Amino acid sequence: MFCGFIRTHCYKVAIAALAALVFLEYGFGVFYDERGRINEAYFTFNLTAPRLWGGLQNSSDVSYSATSNMTLIALQSSNSSDPYQLDLLVDSLNFTGKPLMCPLVSPLLVGRTNVSKIAMPMEAFQEKYSPLLGPGGRYRPPDCHAHYKVAIIIPYRKREEHLQLFIQHMHPFLQRQQIDYGIFVVEQSGDTPFNRAMLMNIGAAEALRQDEFQCFVFHDVDLLPEDDRNTYSCPEQPRHMSVAIDVFKYRLPYEGLFGGVSAMTTEHFIKVNGFSNLFWGWGGEDDDMSSRIKYHKLIISRYPPSTARYTMLSHKKARPNPNRYRVMRNGARRSKVDGLSNLKYKRIELEMKPLYIHILVSIKPS
Ligand code: BGC
Repeated sequence: MFCGFIRTHCYKVAIAALAALVFLEYGFGVFYDERGRINEAYFTFNLTAPRLWGGLQNSSDVSYSATSNMTLIALQSSNSSDPYQLDLLVDSLNFTGKPLMCPLVSPLLVGRTNVSKIAMPMEAFQEKYSPLLGPGGRYRPPDCHAHYKVAIIIPYRKREEHLQLFIQHMHPFLQRQQIDYGIFVVEQSGDTPFNRAMLMNIGAAEALRQDEFQCFVFHDVDLLPEDDRNTYSCPEQPRHMSVAIDVFKYRLPYEGLFGGVSAMTTEHFIKVNGFSNLFWGWGGEDDDMSSRIKYHKLIISRYPPSTARYTMLSHKKARPNPNRYRVMRNGARRSKVDGLSNLKYKRIELEMKPLYIHILVSIKPS
């Protein structure tokens, strides 16, 4: 008899059930919250880019739980029982649990700007910027997952004033580009002639000990980019970045130039065996890299000079290395045995400073 009743009134029963569901949802938000998402969520995902400073350093399976207003409250590594508290909103995660990618062109770019040659007091800058940074000045965009994880490598010795200006210029610049970056200042100790190339090899090796950086930007400390459309992203082909420098009247001095500021993927850098370790004193090491690039059938790419513009900070010109042309001969073939593969150095100190990582090294000719 009950079955007969259902059959006779089936149409009415269906409408009543539907009305009840609509009433429950609109009246009490039982199924979805006001943003149209499921209220309570427990799921796992593979965290390829840990958003925590410390704790989770490598990719690992983690699970998180979310409250009804979708604030992420706890993150737990599958191989550890310590929960890490986060104030990260699930807004920056899509529904499969992966962080949303940053847009390809950052909405924060401002284009060409004047480069300030007057540094603000370091404490004031630090106070403003360090809350945004992790240990060693590491930065990750707070609301999206960056396309690139980039290590900025600065070969350095006795240029304190330049370093201060550089750091104060680069943090806001790179943050506007929504890049995940770390700045590695590699300082040569002692008075042996400066070996820019070897310091860059060391910077790359040390950076890779810390994280899986996808590429490196090798950067002279006295060059400040003038336009944030000059993106410090990972290039498909090695990229010479300091195309137009004010002291060269914003013109490229010669086609094969790879000095000043250049970017390479980790893969390409390893493929060419890094820079040569043999250039002591000014000049040649970048030209040597240029021939390594060609030898390995890669090409030097560039942004247009209208955006790849730099201001050079003034300094006394170093004495050029008179041996550089001799060392450059056979450079490409020598690349197999001279570079990352035979890199030797003594790390005297590594300090995670609030705005960058400082690495003091001792190097000598082998
Ligand atoms: C040197 C390079 C330098 C270039 C531009 C060349 O003669 O060998 O190392 O980058 O001049 O100054």
